[in-house]
Amino acid sequence: MSDTDSEACTPAGAPRSGHRAGVKDVARLAEVSVGTVSNVLNRPHLVSGSTQDRVHAAIESLGFVRNESARQLRTGSSRAIGLVVIDSGNPFFADVARGVEDAVQDAGGVVLLGNSAGSPVRERRYLELFEENRVRGVLIAPSGEESPDLRGLLGLGIPVVFLDRYPDGAPFSSVTVDDVTGGRLAAEHLLAAGHRRLAFVGGPSTLRQVRERRAGVEAALRGAGAGSSATGAPQLLVISTPGLTTDAGRSAAEEVAATDPRLRPTGVIAANDLVAIGLLQGLLRQDLRVPEDVALVGYDDIEFAASSAVPLSSVRQPREELGRTGAGLLYEQIEAQERGATVPTRQVQFRPELVVRRSSASRSPGARLRTDP
Ligand code: RIB
Repeated sequence: MSDTDSEACTPAGAPRSGHRAGVKDVARLAEVSVGTVSNVLNRPHLVSGSTQDRVHAAIESLGFVRNESARQLRTGSSRAIGLVVIDSGNPFFADVARGVEDAVQDAGGVVLLGNSAGSPVRERRYLELFEENRVRGVLIAPSGEESPDLRGLLGLGIPVVFLDRYPDGAPFSSVTVDDVTGGRLAAEHLLAAGHRRLAFVGGPSTLRQVRERRAGVEAALRGAGAGSSATGAPQLLVISTPGLTTDAGRSAAEEVAATDPRLRPTGVIAANDLVAIGLLQGLLRQDLRVPEDVALVGYDDIEFAASSAVPLSSVRQPREELGRTGAGLLYEQIEAQERGATVPTRQVQFRPELVVRRSSASRSPGARLRTDP
């Protein structure tokens, strides 16, 4: 089996000049079978390291380049994995994508990355491209409710795994973080520090992640007596935003600053770190001090959280691990398919962790206080 079958080889195994080396040339030079060369290229986990090294040395020596389109025609699928994220400009998804990329490369594949920008129309374009190119599988952080195209991919034998969202009973595996617990951890931390006027900033509510974080915040406040007539019962101001961006955070900061100081929230939970960083910039511009006037907690714990002007407390998501785990769930489906078997879908959920830094300056029991800036 070769993309370019050829006997045109000098005794040393190198092809005659002007001939493009094929899989058989590589096999001959590495003194392995053609099937072993194919496994090194497509299922490296089946081949010993020393044999992989011999084959890669022969590939480099011969200048062999696989003919992917011939391979797709022969096998009916490519080695590419499609990945669609909601916002490729958000460091959260960059970190998740890095985890996906590492796992896919280890499996001998490549990643085709698409940015839906939260648009179902753009998301659909990428899903159609992945279908046309018969990718081996798709990982997706859905932009909204479940797209019908995803079941279409399943019908074509292309497995799909949800990232950062669970699939509401649809036949997809998923990897997520418990966002309700995440919202609750953030709110309990501020309540424990004595804050009673809190705000939740984030949107759109079409994102399940936002709805669940807010639900966790509201559960924590109810647990602290919100809604009762008790003196000192906590109150929650919800500021919805059109997106989870720094611009949205800066706009929300203006709304917080414009609030009567006697009613102004003193503790704010942002739906993600980009919103929190925008809030921080906006509050400081309005001459409000963080955390003295307004304590702030973000969500994701992206790299910039620790290095922001006031180091940001944040609910940490294991981002690269999310990506690696999602890719692992996808290859479970792919390899079962190759064996002619089926494996049940799996829902993997990680627990978030509250990382406390200077922006909330509180020490709540159980929170790990980071001393880094
Ligand atoms: O999609 C935006 C947000 O949802 C990210 O910041 C991350 O929190 C994800 O869960």
